[in-house]
Amino acid sequence: MATSVNPGYATLLTTTDTGGISVPRLLIVHHTPSPTLQALFEAAAEGARDDAIEGVEVVARPALVAADVDVLEADAYLLGTPANLGYMSGALKHFFDRIYYPCLEATQRRPYGLYVHGNNDTTGAVRAVRSVTKGLEWREAREPVEVVGEPSQASIDACWELGATVAAGLTLDA
Ligand SMILES: Cc1cc2nc3c(=O)[nH]c(=O)nc-3n(C[C@H](O)[C@H](O)[C@H](O)COP(=O)(O)O)c2cc1C
Repeated sequence: MATSVNPGYATLLTTTDTGGISVPRLLIVHHTPSPTLQALFEAAAEGARDDAIEGVEVVARPALVAADVDVLEADAYLLGTPANLGYMSGALKHFFDRIYYPCLEATQRRPYGLYVHGNNDTTGAVRAVRSVTKGLEWREAREPVEVVGEPSQASIDACWELGATVAAGLTLDA
């Protein structure tokens, strides 16, 4: 069954019909305000949905609509944001502000990955996300992917690998 929050993301919001069998779920929470970030998001989502990774459901939600129930019902997280004013985007911060306390106890130790794009320096954005995820006690499944300027093919590939790694980790945890 396909669900769509935003028609523009329709092809990337397909949930798996599991026939009643529960499978681990990866939730992608992303702020995607430009074609550059769309390219990184698509690469990360494609990696997570690679055919070689079986038995993992991948759900994507824009950060401005992702809710605590989405977080509670997932087993791992993939976060994507631009660097804005030396911090994560306001959209991703808004997401964390909404889900922090409702999800604090239930989601400890869950794995997550992060990609960040900036035009000159992503350090503050990564630090900011790590500060919140440290509070949530989520564990970093892989080093964040930091992309500065025009994304190279290597950067796109790194986002793909990030998505694949976090998703594949769920098959090991299961
Ligand atoms: C208000 C604002 C603040 C920004 N602050 C930063 C920043 O602190 N560091 C950085 O590397 N890029 C910064 N940027 C650039 C964005 O990260 C960048 O526009 C975004 O990742 C999308 O990339 P694109 O414009 O190449 O599509 C900022 C952009 C805006 C609009």
